[in-house]
Amino acid sequence: MSKYDFESIIDRRNSNSVKWHVADNELPMWIADMDFATAPEILTALQKKITLGTFGYEEPDDNYFDAIIAWFKQRHHVNIQSEWLNFVTGVIPALSSVVRRLSHVGDNVVVMTPVYDIFFHSIENNGRHVLESPLKYDTDTNHYEIDWHNLETQLAEPLSTLLILCNPHNPVGKTWSQKTLSRLLLLCRKHGVTVVSDEIHGDVVLGEPSYQSLLSLPVEQLHNAVVIFSPSKAFNVAALHAASVVVPDKSLRETVMRGINNDELAEPNLVALEGSMAAYQKGEKWLDALIEQLQYNRHQVEIFLHDHLPQLKFASENATYLLWLDVSAVTENSSDLVKHLRKTTGLVLSAGNIYRGNGEKFVRINIACPRQLLSDGLMRLSRGIKTYANVKQ
Ligand SMILES: Cc1ncc(COP(=O)(O)O)c(C=O)c1O
Repeated sequence: MSKYDFESIIDRRNSNSVKWHVADNELPMWIADMDFATAPEILTALQKKITLGTFGYEEPDDNYFDAIIAWFKQRHHVNIQSEWLNFVTGVIPALSSVVRRLSHVGDNVVVMTPVYDIFFHSIENNGRHVLESPLKYDTDTNHYEIDWHNLETQLAEPLSTLLILCNPHNPVGKTWSQKTLSRLLLLCRKHGVTVVSDEIHGDVVLGEPSYQSLLSLPVEQLHNAVVIFSPSKAFNVAALHAASVVVPDKSLRETVMRGINNDELAEPNLVALEGSMAAYQKGEKWLDALIEQLQYNRHQVEIFLHDHLPQLKFASENATYLLWLDVSAVTENSSDLVKHLRKTTGLVLSAGNIYRGNGEKFVRINIACPRQLLSDGLMRLSRGIKTYANVKQ
């Protein structure tokens, strides 16, 4: 038994939670935050800061950056030089800023779909084009791989200037190996494309193969690399708005940072620094316990699908607490299925089509919740899938 509490149900309704802004009978298992309280060490740090009572302008100091550097070294065997590292207020704001700074209106930004939907907004809302390179889906193994031939064709397009990588990959729950990352960087370099690697899920990997940061590659290979990460997914602190952008190449870094500063993304809020420092310096034991809990939850879903819903296929690999379920035996239109589930059972899932690629045959379910909620969700899923089949007959 873990000394941390992953079983109590916290009433998040009426707490400004985006996830829990749902009707009384509904159970949200969609957006990527967790229904667990964060690490007690983080709560203590935040309380101390609030008690101080003054909330003027802040800036990160060396201790802040040292905490991040030490975390990456110990946990991921990655060396980050302090001058490469900068504070930003969120992964997506930083990503959008990088898109504006490193590409022009009308350029192509390549993404491997299905992928985190907000990437499309960062690209399209800034007047750039999304150029999809769909991942190859193997219907025997239910796993995805990069389609290298297609990817090279997209990168070779004259207007392709950036590739946004999701590492580990949301929603298909996949870590990328060092070999793959190295091949990807070299291919991008050959075609004059910069890689922006979103590594927000790096600390939530539930087994081997482990997360490999782009920063684990030799520094000579990192001239066209920008890496963005944050403690927000692993420690459930999205509302802290604390993230890091790491750019090893000096001239690329100066260009990126001019954008970040112009976009005013380098200014922490009142608890961002204390909260993330506590995560990196004192949160490791809690994170290990969380991962055990998530492994347990994931296993429960596997057993449940095997016993009660064999028509759904488990398509996630080992990363993230978001499971990617192949519903192609039930529907070709997951958005329709998700609407049916919500209407008839109150279960709120993410429809796979928002992630583009072959997402219309998938749903995404967030399993980062106490066991009781997970069982409730699975029962609703089972009921909804059965009635959906009847409705469609
Ligand atoms: C891949 C990915 N990147 C970024 C984010 C959000 O990052 P932030 O809240 O720091 O903007 C999420 C949230 O789900 C995500 O899954």
